[in-house]
Amino acid sequence: MEERKPDVKPACLLLIPLLALSAGAFADDPLATDIDEARGLTRQLVQELGSALKAEMAHGGPVQAIAVCKQRAPEIAGALSRQSGAHVGRVSLRTRNPLIGQPDAWEQRQLADFDRRAAAGEKPDTLEHAEIVDEPAGRFFRYMKAIPVQPVCLACHGPEQTLAPAVRERLRADYPKDRATGYSVGEIRGAVTIKKPL
Ligand code: HEC
Repeated sequence: MEERKPDVKPACLLLIPLLALSAGAFADDPLATDIDEARGLTRQLVQELGSALKAEMAHGGPVQAIAVCKQRAPEIAGALSRQSGAHVGRVSLRTRNPLIGQPDAWEQRQLADFDRRAAAGEKPDTLEHAEIVDEPAGRFFRYMKAIPVQPVCLACHGPEQTLAPAVRERLRADYPKDRATGYSVGEIRGAVTIKKPL
């Protein structure tokens, strides 16, 4: 008699690309809670940082606002990480601060994929991706959401020759390895990234 093969689930079931679907489609998904939480954390990070940035731009101007990005961005991300037990951060394929914003291999793939999807016509502010990833250190829920460039970003991320000279100088002094200029509105500047141990 032929021996029956053990019932092994194909490995691809462990890598579930979830976010091609709309929000409602997640209702029955076992990851729905993780995705909801990741979206909430993303919203908080973007909103808190955005309002700190806008307030400082209006109040002190772009040179002072550089300090907000430098101090507040890691502080806000750190607070959200501690509060949630997930790592919350921002990454980019062209970093200003490579110490914080350097994407790992998985994040690089998602960022490249976001660029492809945007080039194929998807709206940059809708691009997100969630997946369960098995890594040597364990199993993680991973989530990323694209951060599109808005007009307010151009003061510090626009083409070099359009930056105010004082901004250019400050950036050169603080970020000698800066690769985060030359963007235009609608391009993907980077992504929020969330990684939670399961
Ligand atoms: C006042 C200048 C300024 C403005 C305006 C600004 N940024 Fe930044 N941005 C910075 C600085 C400075 C950093 C580096 C922060 C650090 O040291 O972690 C940064 C870092 C980032 C990063 C993290 C990845 C990296 O490159 O290090 C992202 C993503 C980002 N900015 C997106 C944006 C977006 C989107 C906007 C518009 C909504 C924006 N920024 C507006 C100055 C600015």
